Amino acid sequence: MAMNMMMINPINLNLNKTRNPYPNSYIQHTQSLKSSQISNTHEPNHTSFISAHSLVQQFDPNIPIQEALTPPSSWYTSTEFLSLEFDQVFFKGWQAVGCTAQVQEANSFFTGRLGNIEYVVCRDEYGELHAFHNVCRHHASLLAFGSGKGSCFTCPYHGWTYGLNGALLKATRITGIKNFNVNEFGLVPLRVAVWGPFILLNLEKGAFSQQGCDDNVGMEWLGSSSKILSTNGVDTSLSYVCRREYIIECNWKVFCDNHTDGGYHGPFVHKDLCLNLLNSLSTTVYEKVSILGQEKLDRLGYESLYAFIYPNFMVNRYGPWMDTNLILPLGPRRCKVVFDYFLEASLKDDEAFVAKGIEYNEKLQMEDFVLCQAVQRGLESPAYSRGRYVPMVEEAMHHFHCLLHQNLIK
Ligand code: FES
Ligand SMILES: [Fe+2]
Repeated sequence: MAMNMMMINPINLNLNKTRNPYPNSYIQHTQSLKSSQISNTHEPNHTSFISAHSLVQQFDPNIPIQEALTPPSSWYTSTEFLSLEFDQVFFKGWQAVGCTAQVQEANSFFTGRLGNIEYVVCRDEYGELHAFHNVCRHHASLLAFGSGKGSCFTCPYHGWTYGLNGALLKATRITGIKNFNVNEFGLVPLRVAVWGPFILLNLEKGAFSQQGCDDNVGMEWLGSSSKILSTNGVDTSLSYVCRREYIIECNWKVFCDNHTDGGYHGPFVHKDLCLNLLNSLSTTVYEKVSILGQEKLDRLGYESLYAFIYPNFMVNRYGPWMDTNLILPLGPRRCKVVFDYFLEASLKDDEAFVAKGIEYNEKLQMEDFVLCQAVQRGLESPAYSRGRYVPMVEEAMHHFHCLLHQNLIK
């Protein structure tokens, strides 16, 4: 293992501070891992002639983990496979897209993109939360950008203006138009909900918009782990600290696999982490969530926990900190990783403490990013097709792949 690690060239991690056109945007900077690390990123996809459905069938979830093979590397390289994932995984059920701190105040909004779906989440002047497709009903321009505040959305193209409730308020210079009903040209709504500090969207076609809280959302999104998370410090009492975003040259699942290996890579990669801590972690698998945690001495709850919420959201709760990782596919070989940091309210003004905590965590993340990119390169190699699971630690990863298979086989 140590030998393997030495063969990975450290990647030049350039911190690119980007100018932020939206003064109150939570996006602080984007860290880009650019290098010659992936030599064949743009080469033709050799699996494209094989249908995505037949790739799905190459993984058998009925084989027990002790004997199972991992999914084939084509799951991590095929454009068609990613399209199927968008349709069957990301555009079904609840997806985490951000946190309530981003739309705390009336008239605030943030935008985002998942696959080809552009969305805007906003809080209107009455405090009501809404989400819409971020697409102008005139000629399809994107409407809002980044995040910010305002009492309406004005399209940058021809000035059509929408309220934060989605209603078309003004269509410029339409004198002479016929059979045009303003009420039919509001923004197209999306179903939005809140669980704890998180904002969720349901991007399913025909999912009806329901505003505010949805009583079932905890159960639908997290199943029986909902209560476990909320009673172990994943709650609204924490203060939002900041966001960090990174572009990583790997399939989105490579990052998820790394998070669900039960701490297996810890001793080899994160030399700063305490080995005793890693050895005391154990995995519990729920319906769509797995929790790697250190139980309290009385076994009532967790001292610290690292939850993977299928398909692409992670919640890490340790000491006074919580960080979340949202992994957004940008292509079969590229993803965006969004980290949000939260902290116990009493500590959030201690600048030195905050800076130190984030710096420490970023070091760990960089170690993971380097690894993930090295894995992607290995997955591209003709030498590799499928691997094995280590049953003692990789149960959550196997569960993740079984859930994917279940969604994709439909
Ligand atoms: S595209 Fe928005 S006003 Fe024309
Ligand atoms: Fe790690």
